[in-house]
Amino acid sequence: MTVADQEEIKTHQVPERLLSSSLPTPHVVSLDAYRKLWKESVEDPDKFFGDRAREMLTWSKPFQTVRHGSLEEGDVAWFLEGELNACYNAVDRHALKTPNKVAIIHEGDEPDQVRKITYGELLREVSKVANVLKNLGVRKGDNIVVYMPMIPETLVALLACARVGAVHSVVFAGFSAESLRDRVVDSSARIILTSDEGRRGGKNIATKRIVDDALRDHQTHVEHVVVYQRTGTPVPWVQDRDVWWHEETAKVRSFCPPEPMNAEDPLFLLYTSGSTGTPKGIQHSTGGYMLGAMLTLKYVFDYHENDVYACMADVGWITGHTYLTYGPLLNGATTVVFESTPTYPNPSRFWDLIQKHKITQFYTAPTAIRALRRLGDQWLEGYDLSSLRVIGSVGEPINPEAWDWYNEKVGKNQCAVVDTYWQTETGSIIVSPLPGATPTKPGSATLPFFGIKPIILDPTSGKELNQVDETGVLAIAQPWPSMARTVYNNHHRFLETYLKPYPGYYFTGDGASLDKDGYIWIRGRVDDVINVSGHRLSTAEIESALVHHEAVAEAAVIGGHDDLTGQCIHAFVSLKPHVDTADGLDKELTLQVRKIIGPFASPKRIYVVQDHPKTRSGKIMRRILRKIVNGEQDQLGDISTLADPSVVAVLIEKVHGPQ
Ligand code: WT7
Repeated sequence: MTVADQEEIKTHQVPERLLSSSLPTPHVVSLDAYRKLWKESVEDPDKFFGDRAREMLTWSKPFQTVRHGSLEEGDVAWFLEGELNACYNAVDRHALKTPNKVAIIHEGDEPDQVRKITYGELLREVSKVANVLKNLGVRKGDNIVVYMPMIPETLVALLACARVGAVHSVVFAGFSAESLRDRVVDSSARIILTSDEGRRGGKNIATKRIVDDALRDHQTHVEHVVVYQRTGTPVPWVQDRDVWWHEETAKVRSFCPPEPMNAEDPLFLLYTSGSTGTPKGIQHSTGGYMLGAMLTLKYVFDYHENDVYACMADVGWITGHTYLTYGPLLNGATTVVFESTPTYPNPSRFWDLIQKHKITQFYTAPTAIRALRRLGDQWLEGYDLSSLRVIGSVGEPINPEAWDWYNEKVGKNQCAVVDTYWQTETGSIIVSPLPGATPTKPGSATLPFFGIKPIILDPTSGKELNQVDETGVLAIAQPWPSMARTVYNNHHRFLETYLKPYPGYYFTGDGASLDKDGYIWIRGRVDDVINVSGHRLSTAEIESALVHHEAVAEAAVIGGHDDLTGQCIHAFVSLKPHVDTADGLDKELTLQVRKIIGPFASPKRIYVVQDHPKTRSGKIMRRILRKIVNGEQDQLGDISTLADPSVVAVLIEKVHGPQ
């Protein structure tokens, strides 16, 4: 979006309904109140976060020091001497007070499969699985891989790990066997938690088979695979390695004492793609992460006690960790686990879910909003969505058309729309409106959350840009509690990726500008990361999957614009000299990517080319491919530095046909 487009965008005031006495009073009721709190949070973080950590979390040993370390040194630590357990905070303290309150509503793949689990039941289930883990030899600090579908037991698995002090590493169940294996190997996990199958959109998904494939013929540290029975379809069994969840949990006691953890002990790893190399295991802390999750859920979604909160993300991504599991449960909320898709059995599924459970906060991704908008408003007709107060968006920039539709058709102009910007690495939301306080502008994530000091830097000089509407790179000027602490087993990479590019700042990898009101406009990634339907992918990883094919000499992958998925994958491959036909190669290469990464990384277009546009030193100029694909072939700039400028015309013809 250009600055001119941006100026035409209407500012929406906080809907009056949200401030009326029939609804719970928002936690922050004016922009001034927000600004005052934000100022306190960045000027005196010790007091702001120290007070809240003491009030909101239950510590088995209090902390003395709120904050330690710096972005320069990369040794950030919060609540130093404190000890606490994430599972105790998310489950026990609510189970002890309100055991009959519903913690999890499972909306199964079929709309009539609804299961409710109270905090009391959750504590027993989590305890049993924690005892099973202990029986399998799990000790504090061990890494455990979770490869499971969208069922309550997946949340139970995470919480059970946290209870015994193990570090969970969830792998999104859409990842292929090879991706799963890489993550299992990197984390040296001895235990994998999985299910026989998954269910999605009326189909069975062979979850355990993928785990078996990942482990077959490969040296890993895996000793046991614990299998939850979701569908009951018979699955292959490896004697002595595989154990049934239901058999093991039947043997153990339904109470397990929580392990006291230091605030800085790791709570989990979550692998994410970067611009180069293999995926990195982003490591989050226990205390700081929990505070971030709890505070943002409360303020950004304006959570109140009797709310029914629903986040549509998969547990396999950070949103599923922070806003499906930890954020809601730490607040003692009722959280919805949704197993199906937005269009199964028909495109009214979300609206049916909201009406049925009287959802108060609903959180989804722009790609789902765009897809449903395209299918037509008739799917919303007749549904009562009046329970909603806050509707959220996450994962990629939301275009103003989709924002307006979400606001009008879903929110009926009566809800707060929160476009929340954050990353796996930030742990929790860092830029977002607050429902009762912040006027919104469609397309802008608006203003920083408490403790976040955003800054726009000149990408080359690293100097702060102070001009309104000037685009630079988005950085954060001081540490916040839920920021990632390291990359597992590779602190060097953590420093090089996030803290060294602009010393003294955390570098987000996104371009952004500030408008005259100080509102933040995220412009998308400035590195080789692409975002397809909110899934973060590395072009380097896709290229490496493509060159694994015996016919491919070289591959270049770039992100093209796509009306539905935000970005989509375009791949340019050149073939080895002995390969004389490209027939059927498209299909084979797509399969190759699906096999090595996962179906969600499939290229939309694959072009077989003679040559790539290269510099004289042999570097592929992806910038040129990106412009051609996005229809900007008239703005290629200086191509005289190319080793062979004539390839450009050939490429344009390949993509757009004869000119
Ligand atoms: C990248 C992080 C955070 C949970 C889901 C994705 C993009 C995320 C927004 C937004 C514009 C956004 C950024 C960011 N992104 N939310 N509201 N507006 N862009 O987490 O996989 O770690 O990806 O997603 O480019 O860097 P992730």
